This record gives sequence, structure tokens and C-alpha cells, in this order.
Amino acid sequence: LEVDASWKVARKIPQTLFGLFFEEINHAGAGGIWAELVSNREIYSIGFEAGGQNTPSNIDPWSIIGDESSIYVTTERASRFSKNIIALRMEVLCDHCPGGSVGIYNPGFWGMNIEEGKAYNLVMHIRSLEHVEMTASLTCYDGSQNIASTSIVHDGVQEWLKIELQLVAQGTCRTSRLELTTSKRGVIWFDQVSLMPSGTYKGHGFRKELVHMLLDLRPQFLRFPGGCFVEGNQTKNAFRWRESIGPWEERPGHYGDVWKYWTDDGLGYYEFLQLAEDLGAAPIWVFNAGISHTDAVDTSVIAPFVRDALDSIEFARGSAKSTWGSVRASMGHPERFPLKYVTVGNEDCDKINYKGNYLKFYNAIREAYPDIQIISNCDGSSRPLDHPADLYDFHVYTNPNDLFLSKDKFRRTSRSGPKVFVSEYAVNVDAGNGNLLASLAESAFLIGLEENSDVVQMASYASLFANDNDRNWNPDAIVFNSWQQYGTPSYWIQTIFRESSGAVIHPVRLSSSYSGSLAASAITWQDNEHTFLRVKIVNIGSNTLNLTIDVAGLQAGVDRKRSAITVLTSNNPSDENSFSDPNKVVPVKKDLPNAAEEMQVSLVPHSLTSFD
Ligand code: AHR
Repeated sequence: LEVDASWKVARKIPQTLFGLFFEEINHAGAGGIWAELVSNREIYSIGFEAGGQNTPSNIDPWSIIGDESSIYVTTERASRFSKNIIALRMEVLCDHCPGGSVGIYNPGFWGMNIEEGKAYNLVMHIRSLEHVEMTASLTCYDGSQNIASTSIVHDGVQEWLKIELQLVAQGTCRTSRLELTTSKRGVIWFDQVSLMPSGTYKGHGFRKELVHMLLDLRPQFLRFPGGCFVEGNQTKNAFRWRESIGPWEERPGHYGDVWKYWTDDGLGYYEFLQLAEDLGAAPIWVFNAGISHTDAVDTSVIAPFVRDALDSIEFARGSAKSTWGSVRASMGHPERFPLKYVTVGNEDCDKINYKGNYLKFYNAIREAYPDIQIISNCDGSSRPLDHPADLYDFHVYTNPNDLFLSKDKFRRTSRSGPKVFVSEYAVNVDAGNGNLLASLAESAFLIGLEENSDVVQMASYASLFANDNDRNWNPDAIVFNSWQQYGTPSYWIQTIFRESSGAVIHPVRLSSSYSGSLAASAITWQDNEHTFLRVKIVNIGSNTLNLTIDVAGLQAGVDRKRSAITVLTSNNPSDENSFSDPNKVVPVKKDLPNAAEEMQVSLVPHSLTSFD
């Protein structure tokens, strides 16, 4: 393997190259990175709208403590919030209630993770005409073990009352539930009930451990909020940014009809922008193009959707005095969010009305915000686009062999015209739940993207997150439940590419006898003090390969004292990580004491090896 490390032939990789694609899929957000513990809260709430706006409605997963003779729970159009009109009415029928008290409980998203010594903020709205004496408690799964509780006492009034209190856990239980109980006969209405851990990332509502896993990838951008989630099966169920901002109690939430679950939109447009900022990543806002999987808005009447997109951009980056910028400021972020990329729709290129609608969005955004980079859904990698764009989406889901070969995909792509955004890539065939082989094919593909980064400007794996209780899309980069998380091999390989964004790429020449099983790249990259050369080689085959790495033209200043070798491999290409064995397939880093410009190396079967 020959590496020409001289600067003459080097080229800078775009700073934007590797980032993240977040989609509300697999409960990635609701019951995932958004730390709300109450399921069907309607933003910090029992909104009950998840059951529909009919009364009585399905209050799932809320349930009752007691029996038919002691408690009667239904829903009514009684809320104080105009966009969340359904409230829960609880009537206690007993004077000597079974077990001492009756009430309602919420099990969260497959159980709440409550940890000893930690504080949990409960916010809810209640109303009662009678004197209220209630208990709010956190109990382990079946209510058998109480780990936190507090009493709520208030005089009966006509008005709704907002209750805010903190519960401190006296024990740990991964499958806890929130109980609201009373032993007093009477009627209490509940609405908007939220329970948030007090220690979310920067206090912004994100689950810390999951954010840390994202930070470890040093993402350069965050594409959000989907995916098909942006489109909906029907346009009426698409993500609508306006309904996802402002006070949490007033967000109606919506049913994501592609991935088939309710989202309270607590993780809304503002929170996505905040998450991007917290990650140090450029936000990439994918908005609905008036097109879903089954219906489409005609271009002749798309104007309100275009206005809506312009308003969303003003919300992100308008001054705090502008109409929508002031809403952002009122939510706690007077500074502008640096929104520089928008995507018009998702996978809509071949859908009726896309081109017409796209041009309306394009022209309006270009005129109002000339610096914004506009991304088209149409693939321009094989032939030029027939419409203007700054970048175009390219999605690939395939088998290991095909993705390995796709490393050369962009060699023949035109260098003039819009740049490529590989906004979704993954091996999803023969990948198990995310195995080593899949990750190696992805590594080879990423090496190809580095090599072609004069035309490929950005790339992100899909899908990012899966709650293990709802693995609707498989495989994923990060798998979690209420209290644990691990990276699949596809996650870990991305940690080996994180220094590539903004690095310098050098040409490599690999003997053709290896071309069926190896892919290689060489970069130089810098941390605060040093410059490093990194040679990455994927061996996707089942043989150990011995070869010589021959580096020519290495510049003075490249640190040779801290040389290291990092290998990601396992016994079997089908090996995966799991909750019980989260580190089965992870990179292992060792010192490389005899690093030299000419070096004999051995590449173990099924491996990604990085020489620094
Ligand atoms: O990543 C999962 C889905 O795959 C996305 O929602 C969609 O864009 C693609 O088809």
C-alpha cells in the first residue's frame, strides 16, 4: 500500500463530511433521547390526546389503581389548553378504598428508570371542586415498592391549578411507574402531566448518556427530524414545526403514521435546533414538501407551505425582534440558531408534484435567504439534475457486498453542479441486528466517500437510534432501553472516521490483487497540539493479509512518538453487540512502538485497522 503523504497532492476534506441523521423512528425521541418519562403526557402532561380527541378516549398507557366499584376514569373535553382539549376525569367512589387508596398510574415508555438519590420534576395540571388530598409516588413496576412520594393538598376551586414538585428517589428501579392516588371520595381532573429527570444534558431535556454517545462521534451536522417521519403516510400526519414549538402544554402532539406511534412533540423544532447546538453540529432542517407517502398538495396551492417553510427559517435565524424569531427568544434562545441547510422533502423526487413544489420552495428560500444551502431529494450522481440545488440527497440501503463495491460509486459523478449529501446509508441486508460484516462494508463505503469528498460534502448513517422495545427499523447505530445503551459495530466504526471531517486526504495506491477485499485511505489530521497521519484499511475478507505500508513525502511535524494501532474485529463476521455483551465488537487501541514510513503489517480477517 503506497501512501503519498506530501502536501502537493493532498486535498482538504470538507469540514462537514460526517454527521448525524436523527429520525423520530424506533422511539428514538419519544421514550429515547427526549428524557420525558411519562408516555402520553402531551408535553409534560397527561394530554390523553394520544387516544384520540373523542371522549371517552383510549388513555393508554395510563391505567387505574383500584377496581370498578372504587374508581371511574374517563376523558372529557375539559382541558384548559385549547390545542389539547382532552383531560382525564377521575371519580373516586369509595370511602374505604381497597388498599387504602385508588388512582391512576403511568408506566412510562416500557418502565421508568428511577435511580436512587436522583431528583425528578413532576409538573401537572389538576382541577377539583372539592378539597384535594393526593399522593404522587414513584413505585417499582407493580406498585409493590415505593421509592419516592409526596402529598398534594389543595382547596377545591373552579380553576385549573399547575402543580410543580420534585420527587427524590430513595431506591433504584428500572421499571418504575408514576402513581397519582387518593383515599378521598370525589372528582379530580388531570391534564398535562410530566415527569422529567432533573439531570438532563445542559438542562435541555436530553438524556445525558445518549447525548454523550453522539458527542463521541464529533458530528459536524444534525439532519432532523426524518426520514419518512417528515412525510407521513398522509400529509395530515406529517411533522409540523409550528405545532411543535411554544409552551409544552399547548403542543398538540401527533400520530407518526409511518412508524406508528404517538409523539407528544416535546422534542420539537426548537429542541432539535438546541440539540444541534449542544452537539456543535450544523442543523439541517428537513421540512415537508407538501407530499406524503399517499397524497400530495398541488403546486398551484403550495404557497401556504412555502410561507410555512420561510417562517420556520425565520424562527431559527431571525432576529429576536422578528415575528418568529421573537417566539424563539421567548422560549429561551434570543441568539439566532445558525441554520444554513434545508432539505425540501424526503425521498419525494419521483412523487407527483415534487419538482413543481420544490421549485416554489427553492425560489422563495433563495430570494429570502441567499446563503442557505438547499438540498433536493433527486439523485444527481448519475445524471445532472434538471432543477437548481446546492446539494442532493443520496440514500443507500443494501447488502454488504454491494455497499463494499459502492465505495467507488462517486468516482464517475460529475464534479460540476450540486454536491452530494449521502444523508442515509447502511447495510440492512444480512446485517442481523447490526453485525461486524455490515460495519466493515460501511467502512469501505466511508473510505470511498473520503476519497470522493471533493463532490461528497456530507454523509450520515441511518437509522441512528432504536429503543430496544420498538426496533421497527433494524439495524441502528445506538440501541437503548430505559437505562442502558450500547453502540452497534456501525456506531463504533464511525468513531474511527470522526477525525476525517476537515482533515487532509492523501492518495493511496493499493495493489490490484487486494482490490476485492481491501479498501484504504490516508489522512492527516490535527488535534490541538499535533498533526497525525492516519491510514485506515478495511479487510472484509476471511483471510489474514500481510502487506507493506509505504509512506512517501511525510511532512516534518507529523507526530511519530504517539503512534497507535486501532483494530475493530471479532471472531465471526456475524458478531454483534448486545446489552449483555456491549463491547464484543469495539475498536481496540494499542501503542505501535515500531511505526515507520515503511512498515510490514498484518490485517486480520474481517477487520478495520487504523494506523496513527
Ligand atoms: O432510515 C429509515 C427510513 O429509510 C427513512 O425514514 C427513509 O428516509 C428511508 O426510506
